[in-house]
Amino acid sequence: MTKQISSHTRITTLLIVICIAVMLASCGTMAGLSQSKPKSLLTYDEQAKEILATMTLDEKIGQMIQSEYVGMQDKNDIQKYFLGSVLMGGGSDPAAGNSLEAWTDVYDEVQSIAMKTRLGIPVMYGVDAVHGHSNVIGATIFPHNIALGCTNNPELIEKIGKITAIEMQATGMNWTFAPCVTVVRDERWGRTYEGFSEEPEIASILGAASTRGLQGNDLSDPLAVAACAKHYIADGGTSAVTSQGRGGPAFGGFNFGGAAMTTRGGTRVTLNAGNSEFDEDTLRKIHLPPYKACVDAGVATIMPSYSSWNGTKCSASKFLLTDLLKGELGFKGFLISDYNAIDQINMRNFKEAIAISINAGMDMAMEPTRYAEFFTFLKELVEEGTVPMSRIDDAVTRILRVKIAMGLFDDSRSHLTDRKLHEIFGSKEHRKVARQAVRESLVLLKNNNEVLPVAKNTKKIFVAGINGNDIGNQCGGWTIQWQGQSGNDLTEGTTILQGIKDIVSSDTEVVYSRDGSGAAGSDVAIVFVGEERPYAEGSGDNGDLSLSAQQVEMINSIKSEGIPVVAVIISGRPMIIGDILDKADAIVAAWYPGTEGQGVADVLFGDYKPTGKLSFTWPKSMDQIPINVGDSDYDPLYEFGFGLSY
Ligand code: BGC
Repeated sequence: MTKQISSHTRITTLLIVICIAVMLASCGTMAGLSQSKPKSLLTYDEQAKEILATMTLDEKIGQMIQSEYVGMQDKNDIQKYFLGSVLMGGGSDPAAGNSLEAWTDVYDEVQSIAMKTRLGIPVMYGVDAVHGHSNVIGATIFPHNIALGCTNNPELIEKIGKITAIEMQATGMNWTFAPCVTVVRDERWGRTYEGFSEEPEIASILGAASTRGLQGNDLSDPLAVAACAKHYIADGGTSAVTSQGRGGPAFGGFNFGGAAMTTRGGTRVTLNAGNSEFDEDTLRKIHLPPYKACVDAGVATIMPSYSSWNGTKCSASKFLLTDLLKGELGFKGFLISDYNAIDQINMRNFKEAIAISINAGMDMAMEPTRYAEFFTFLKELVEEGTVPMSRIDDAVTRILRVKIAMGLFDDSRSHLTDRKLHEIFGSKEHRKVARQAVRESLVLLKNNNEVLPVAKNTKKIFVAGINGNDIGNQCGGWTIQWQGQSGNDLTEGTTILQGIKDIVSSDTEVVYSRDGSGAAGSDVAIVFVGEERPYAEGSGDNGDLSLSAQQVEMINSIKSEGIPVVAVIISGRPMIIGDILDKADAIVAAWYPGTEGQGVADVLFGDYKPTGKLSFTWPKSMDQIPINVGDSDYDPLYEFGFGLSY
């Protein structure tokens, strides 16, 4: 055998190589996944500095402000104060409602006003597209991050980011306050479901994947948006504060996320926007890694947390913002304060609060209503020399870098929304990916006597519990409204009940009961329990995560009729399920699946075998919380990483 190969073989080999190369390349684009390392934001420094040199102090300060659309009495304030950004926060709806048209019109209105300023610098429009473009009716709503953490599938999370960006761009919106890369150490916290995991590695990998998906290969891609890793740092590591009955900590008239739930025993637990108390080593090991991962993935912006670390507000800490994040981690984008967070640094003296935060390294202030006051105070602070001009220039350079990277200064591009994208908003193709995410996120906790998967030709299936037939409850908070909202008219989607009806054989009878009555004669019962109303932020802080007595009773009574019971938990966190553990033959954690309820049915009926693994520890009792993998006395009901299959 010679080393020489025939020309025929050579041509065939060459063709195969070319085919593989083409296939690989198109695979990447088909999935729309990012391939290359992100371009450094420093690439845009020269252009940013050129623009900066032409700006007045007023114009610079304006770039550092974000107002809220509904908080502006007069929309011409965008022009008057040269605002760098506008947001539509949780629950702030356009006057014409939450339709695709209304949101798009608002964007175009705001951008058109911004373009009338002397320098015509476009605004970045910020929204909380935290599980899809979740404020807009008809958007594809993906499972919340806690569910995505259980998929532990970075490619899928990247695709979700990509689709979210496309649906955002369909409304013009170009900046999302996501991903939330909190590492949640206490599931009594009302924002638990916004986090991927209690453990930094999953939060890091998925946070970076989400950033890549949202921002694309290049921020200037018209289908990409700027991402914002939040809430820096240790928002999920705060110490619980308990108080008795109503009242709780007084927070004034600002957005602190509502009042915590009073638990059945009358004890109120507050974790949201609290104080995290541990040493720097713990901060670096547990809470810093996801930010490093996002910075490495090129995240354009980061939101400092309302919370404090050892008594100092994160939004006021020069060490955290400047030394650690911008210095050590090399973050070159800009920092956006949380909603009214600067005000909270000193509730009596706004001007002093501004000085502290800007000097600590905050670059843009989210001031929904006090933007004019902020403008005046910051200008005075610069003129008095309390805030150095170099700090202002640094902040504005950072903001401009991001805007240039986003292609906002590209004159060949229209500054108005590309309304052709409306055609793919909430499309079947997008919903298919959401359904896949639901399938992959379900965690099978128990399956006695192989009650799951349920046969599609079972004669009579009993479905019970409000969460089985409620789009609002299956989506959770941050859906159309800030706090979310129960009900099937909230947005377009498929309830889990409908998903079940669609998957079973044509001669199978599916009977639904909200309260669990009328199960007699059924062959199997699928009972939906969990958290019965959506919530967001502080109003979800809860010291009692046990199932309600009514839910326990529902399962008991169905089981007492000799019917096998599959319990499906719809919730934003692990719950205390000791009361149903013996009665339910199978238990599935389905988290907040979003609008594509069929994904739950796909798993229950065996079209997709469960693959989800717990990204959170599942405790036995409230007394065990906080409980996290690695604790010395770790003895949970289901361990971190647990998940059965068929
Ligand atoms: C939340 C942020 C959110 C912001 C804007 C705040 O209350 O803490 O997560 O991005 O509001 O809606």
